[in-house]
Amino acid sequence: MTMGTITAAYIAAAILFILSLSGLSNQETSRRGNWYGIIGMTIAIVATVLNPNVDSYGWLILAMLIGGGVGVRFATKVEMTEMPELIAILHSFVGMAAVLVGFASYFDPNLHLSGTAATIHNVEVYLGILIGAVTFTGSVVAYGKLSGKISSTPLMLPARHFLNLAVVIAWVFIGSWFLGAEHGTGTVALICMTILAFLFGIHMVAAIGGADMPVVISMLNSYSGWAAAATGFMLSNDLLIVVGALVGSSGAILSYIMCRAMNRNFVSVIMGGFGTTTGGGGDDDAEQGEAIAILSDEVASLIGDAEEVVIVPGYGMAVANAQHPVSDLTKMLIDRGVNVRFAIHPVAGRMPGHMNVLLAEANVPYDLVLEMDEINDDLPEVDVVIVIGANDIVNPAALENPNSPIAGMPVLEVWNAKTVIVSKRSMATGYAGVENPLFFKENTRMLFGDAKDSVDAIRQALS
Ligand code: TAP
Repeated sequence: MTMGTITAAYIAAAILFILSLSGLSNQETSRRGNWYGIIGMTIAIVATVLNPNVDSYGWLILAMLIGGGVGVRFATKVEMTEMPELIAILHSFVGMAAVLVGFASYFDPNLHLSGTAATIHNVEVYLGILIGAVTFTGSVVAYGKLSGKISSTPLMLPARHFLNLAVVIAWVFIGSWFLGAEHGTGTVALICMTILAFLFGIHMVAAIGGADMPVVISMLNSYSGWAAAATGFMLSNDLLIVVGALVGSSGAILSYIMCRAMNRNFVSVIMGGFGTTTGGGGDDDAEQGEAIAILSDEVASLIGDAEEVVIVPGYGMAVANAQHPVSDLTKMLIDRGVNVRFAIHPVAGRMPGHMNVLLAEANVPYDLVLEMDEINDDLPEVDVVIVIGANDIVNPAALENPNSPIAGMPVLEVWNAKTVIVSKRSMATGYAGVENPLFFKENTRMLFGDAKDSVDAIRQALS
C-alpha cells in the first residue's frame, strides 16, 4: 500500500470513528454507531499492517492471534454485570501499551534525532509514559473496586494532598533531569518517573470513595485516550493521535456530565475522600423505624389498578438479569391501559448508560425511557413507583442529610409518588454503603427477593 492510500484510509477511518461516537450518543442510532466503529477499526488495522515500514509480519500475526483470541474469549464470556470492570481493565491495557511504546521508542536504535527534534521526541516519550503509567495502575485499582476485590472505602493517607503535590513537583524535576541527559542516558530518570506514576495512579483511585466511582471511570476513559494520543505522537501515527484525542475529549466531557449528575466538583472528586462508607451517619439509624414488606400478588393488584406506573431500574436489575421480565411486565401493563414509564438516573448501575443498554437489549420502547430531569417533577402524580434493584439513586438522604456521603447528589425523588415498591433481596446498602431512609417511609413497601423472581411472580399474579 502506498503512503497516499494509507493516508486516505486513515482519513476514512477517522471520519467513521467520529460518526461512531455520534451514533453511540443516542439509543436509536447506537447499533449503527457500533458498525461505523467496527468498520473504521478494520480499515485502520488493515492500513497499519500494510504500511511499507512494517516488515515483521511473523511477530505481528502472532500478537494479533494472541490478542484477538483473548479478546474474543472475554467478549463471549463476560456477563453484562461484569462490563464495567471489563472496561476498566481495558483502559489499563491502553495505559500499559503507552508505557511500553514509550520505552521502546526511547531505546529505538534506528532513531537518530538531534537538537529540537530530539527534545520534542523526549517530551513525547516522557508525557506518554507518565500518562500511560497513571492510567495503568489507576485502571487496575478501579477494576478491583468495581469487581469488589478491593474495598470501595476511600484510602485516606495522612497528608495525602501533600504527597500528591510532592509527586507532581518530583515529576517536574525528573523531567528536566531527563531532558538534560544525553540521548540514551536518561533511562534512570525515566524509570524513577514511571515508578512514581505507577504509585500516583494507585493512590489517586484508591483515595476516591464508592459514590464517586462514576467520575473515576469516565476520567480513566479520558486518560486512556490521551495515553493513546501520546503513543500516536511517539509513533508518528496521525490516526492514533486523532482517535486518542477523540477518546480523551469525549471522556473529559463524560466526566463533566457525571460530575454534574452527582453535583460534584471535578477537582474535589480527584482530590478524593468523598463517598466514605460510614453507613449514612449515626443519626439516621435512630429515626428509621420499621420497613413494611409486601407480597408480589399485592403488588400485582396495586399496579394492575394504577393509572400511572414508573419503573426505576438500578444495579440489582443487572445482577438479577431481570430486564426481560421487566420488559414483559411493561407490555402486560400497557395492554391493561396503564401508563408505564422508566426513570433513569445518570449514574444508575455501574457504567454510564448501563440501564439504557439493558432496557434496549430487552426491547423496551425508547420513548418510555426518560432521564431523571425529565421525570422527577411528574413523580407526585404517579400512583406506583417500582424500584427494581436500585438504592443510592433513590436515597432521600442525598437531599435531607447534609452529613451523608452522598449529600448533594441529585436523586430520583420516588418518595413523592403515592406508593413506592422497592424490589431487593434484603435491607443491605447500595454501592456507596449509605443507609436508605426511603425503605422506612410510610408509603414505601419492600418486596424482598431476587428482582427477576419477584417480577416473574408479579407477572404471574397479573395474568
Ligand atoms: P446500588 O446503590 O449499588 O444498589 C443496588 C441494589 O441492588 C443493592 O442495594 C442490592 O440490595 C440490590 N440488588 C443486588 N442484587 C440484586 C438482585 N439479584 N435482585 C434484587 N436486588 C438486588 O445501585 P444504584 O441505585 O443503581 O446506584 C448506582 C451506584 O453505583 C451509585 O452509588 C453510583 O455512584 C455507583 N457507581 C455508578 C457507576 C456508573 S458510571 N453508573 C460506576 C461506579 C459506581 P440487596 O443486596 O439487598 O439485594
